Amino acid sequence: MIQRPRRLRANAAIRNLVSETQVRPEQLILPLFVREGLTEPKPIKGLPGVVQHTETSLRAEIDRALEAGIGGVMVFGIPNHRDPIGSEALSPNGVLSKAVRDIRAQVGDRLVVIADLCLDEFTSHGHCGVLGAPDANGNATVDNDATLEIYGRMAVVLAEAGAHMLGASGMMDGQVAATRLALDAADHQDVSILAYAAKYASAFYGPFREAVESQLEGDRKTYQQDPRNARESIREIKLDAAEGADIIMVKPALAYLDIISEASRAVDLPIASYVVSGEMAMIEAAAAQGLINREPAILEALASVHRAGANIICTYWAIEVAGWLNRR
Ligand code: PBG
Repeated sequence: MIQRPRRLRANAAIRNLVSETQVRPEQLILPLFVREGLTEPKPIKGLPGVVQHTETSLRAEIDRALEAGIGGVMVFGIPNHRDPIGSEALSPNGVLSKAVRDIRAQVGDRLVVIADLCLDEFTSHGHCGVLGAPDANGNATVDNDATLEIYGRMAVVLAEAGAHMLGASGMMDGQVAATRLALDAADHQDVSILAYAAKYASAFYGPFREAVESQLEGDRKTYQQDPRNARESIREIKLDAAEGADIIMVKPALAYLDIISEASRAVDLPIASYVVSGEMAMIEAAAAQGLINREPAILEALASVHRAGANIICTYWAIEVAGWLNRR
């Protein structure tokens, strides 16, 4: 007997019947940038449709997110004032806390409000933590444990602003445990932690750095992971799970599908992945030049992330893609 796999591809109804995975709007998370003191939304180079929001444009975007039925939003704040220790991150009326408070008031529990828990937007040097003494070559080093203490306080500020969930994205050792401890001590047992367990020192963060007006010089290779490593991710993921992470994040997504796949086997927590700015920019640039067909390319890219094992996908395309999926 000849094997004929093509029988199950004969028409759309059959293909749908046997489809193994499906990206769903309610599992998409939209990253949002809110810029203090902005009067007009400001576009970001390379990311069509993505802007730094004003308070007003943020409100409208949240309405669109609700309408599209996406799962959540991930909020990043860009302050007017930065200093070496990122003090603005701890201000209950700072740009991030305020945005989180406004969004939560607007959405209630209709979508998940996730606040980025990291200092890089708030420090004058652009690192994800505070600096310690320079190393033997005079290079800046990030002081892990001094940073944890600040993350703990920032976590409480963001929880008090109404965040359902915190995105622990700084890649400091012990950040999940420190955050959990601080939240629990302040009676925020119900605020969850989305742990960027496996986050790589990637060249695909370019447009994001513009979006948050990053002050970084140099790189983050002493805390973010080396792209050449895979097993190291499993160690990071297991550590974060043991420290009390609620969801595990792998970032970037498209260049790290193997890590997503291994992560989903390594732990029994939900797996998320972040299609980062540079990954989006590549697809948009190719589509803009007519080299690839935009909509199917985007759906295929997201399907690959889902198929690899991340049900939850963080993507700047969240609202648009939800619209396509809802229309089917
Ligand atoms: C840092 C952070 C980064 C991104 C989100 N938060 C990367 C970095 O600057 O190292 C990148 C997201 C993207 O590129 O879309 N806390």
